[in-house]
Amino acid sequence: MDKIDPRRFLISLKNMGIDSYVSQRENVVTLPLLRKQVSECRKCSLAATRTNAVFGEGSNRAQLLFIGEAPGEEEDLQGRPFVGRAGKFLDQMIERIGLRRDEVFICNVLKCRPPNNRDPEPVEVEACKDYLLSQLELIGPKIICTLGKHAYNTLFGVDEKITRIRGVLTSYKGIKLLPTYHPAFLLRNQNRVKEVWEDMERLKQLLRE
Ligand code: URA
Ligand code: SF4
Repeated sequence: MDKIDPRRFLISLKNMGIDSYVSQRENVVTLPLLRKQVSECRKCSLAATRTNAVFGEGSNRAQLLFIGEAPGEEEDLQGRPFVGRAGKFLDQMIERIGLRRDEVFICNVLKCRPPNNRDPEPVEVEACKDYLLSQLELIGPKIICTLGKHAYNTLFGVDEKITRIRGVLTSYKGIKLLPTYHPAFLLRNQNRVKEVWEDMERLKQLLRE
């Protein structure tokens, strides 16, 4: 019998929708493996101050994937994304779309909390970015919703203001992408909430298409 080429075998598994992919270094990557790598990661200095790395959570087959900025205090303590005050608002956003939290996937650009919730540093984003890109590849969502400017700017390598990009549908590697405001920003700017409800309605429509 012919010998099976492991690389081709894994590619055919992926084509059948099985959750693994072969990275360029020919290592097999799966979500559980990636989660473990992140939990032990020391690629940037945030490893020294974190309590827990926050990989993200939700459905591994989610059609809709949210990307925030970085874990805050509560997220760092629990090791889960968006579980603090901003998280409660994100829950409401998800509810507006008519989905449950376990039907979407929620993650962040940075997997570890920056001290005092300061903005991510470019070196930290650079160190952490591959994890996010692997998550996107493994989950393969139909739509990405970026929350705030950091997620958008990280994916596209740009430096846009959120007010300029919010609500403008675009795409990333063939996946539809809708940028909206960050829930923490909405807690401080209630007058912007109406626009976010419009964005959630849009997501609902896009998911139906
Ligand atoms: N803000 C974020 O960007 N991500 C979280 O997980 C929590 C708050
Ligand atoms: Fe690793 Fe990202 Fe945490 Fe830095 S922020 S230690 S790159 S997981």
